[in-house]
Amino acid sequence: MKFLVINGVNLNMLGIREKDVYGNRSYDDLCNYIKEIASEEKVDLDIFFSNFEGEIVEKIQNSYAVYDGIIINPGAYAHYSIAILDALRSVNLPTIEVHLTDVMNRENYRRVLITSEACFLTIMGKGFEGYKEAIIKMKQKLGE
Ligand code: DQA
Repeated sequence: MKFLVINGVNLNMLGIREKDVYGNRSYDDLCNYIKEIASEEKVDLDIFFSNFEGEIVEKIQNSYAVYDGIIINPGAYAHYSIAILDALRSVNLPTIEVHLTDVMNRENYRRVLITSEACFLTIMGKGFEGYKEAIIKMKQKLGE
């Protein structure tokens, strides 16, 4: 079982950006957390980060026949990237969307979730733990 975790625009600014919203932990902390959970759950995974929509699209396209599932936090692209949605639909891999914060209880413009239309599950508002839940749920889905 091999998963790809994709983190999109501005997630590299964790620990610096809006600490009252996203907390003090850094992007490296997040990656270490994800790797720790992956080893606990005995899952092989790669983590990819980009601020660029086209790079995320390419990474998704190149996941075809390489990964068994995708866990994606697109950052703000979640709210408007039809290109990322189309890429996810193209490769048609089981996908889970994660948001650190509860986007349904923030600004109205965050309530629209475009990319999650290609996902069988969307997890939000659970901070780093959301990635743990995603890894476990993805394992369950693939084991079905
Ligand atoms: C986010 C939520 C998005 O609305 C925001 O643009 C982000 C982070 C989250 O993880 O809570 O950059 O995806």
